Amino acid sequence: MDKREKKAIIITLGVLALFFFSILYARGKNNDLVECLPYNKTYEERKVTKLDDKTYQVFAVAQMWQFQPAEIYIPVGSEVDFFLTSKDVVHGFNIAEKNVNMMAVFGNINKTTVKFDKPGVYKITCHEYCGVGHQNMQAQVIVNNPAAQ
Ligand code: CUA
Repeated sequence: MDKREKKAIIITLGVLALFFFSILYARGKNNDLVECLPYNKTYEERKVTKLDDKTYQVFAVAQMWQFQPAEIYIPVGSEVDFFLTSKDVVHGFNIAEKNVNMMAVFGNINKTTVKFDKPGVYKITCHEYCGVGHQNMQAQVIVNNPAAQ
């Protein structure tokens, strides 16, 4: 093998390694990857369920032009599983501060897990154009209810 060939192989392997490590790094740093779950009608019933002191499940339903539940109260340090569906068209589900970017799709359930380490109000916004009320479509996650302190 000639020297330049060897060099090209080493550089290629280096770039590949960097690529795989950056994927692993991004995965570890961010939230869970979004999962698509088999559809089940129980997810259409919006609710917040407490599994234990630090673990919650939110069944979120998007429809023109609101999210339900519109206000989600949780204590700081909670880990929340969001299960998301839509009752009509495709909506977005974005929590910018938490790097959450999901789609709410009729007949589908998308799931992600988010940890809320800091108190505050985290806005959930629809970032997929869904009609005349789109720009007003939002909800919030209220961590340790800062307004009440
Ligand atoms: Cu819902 Cu835009």
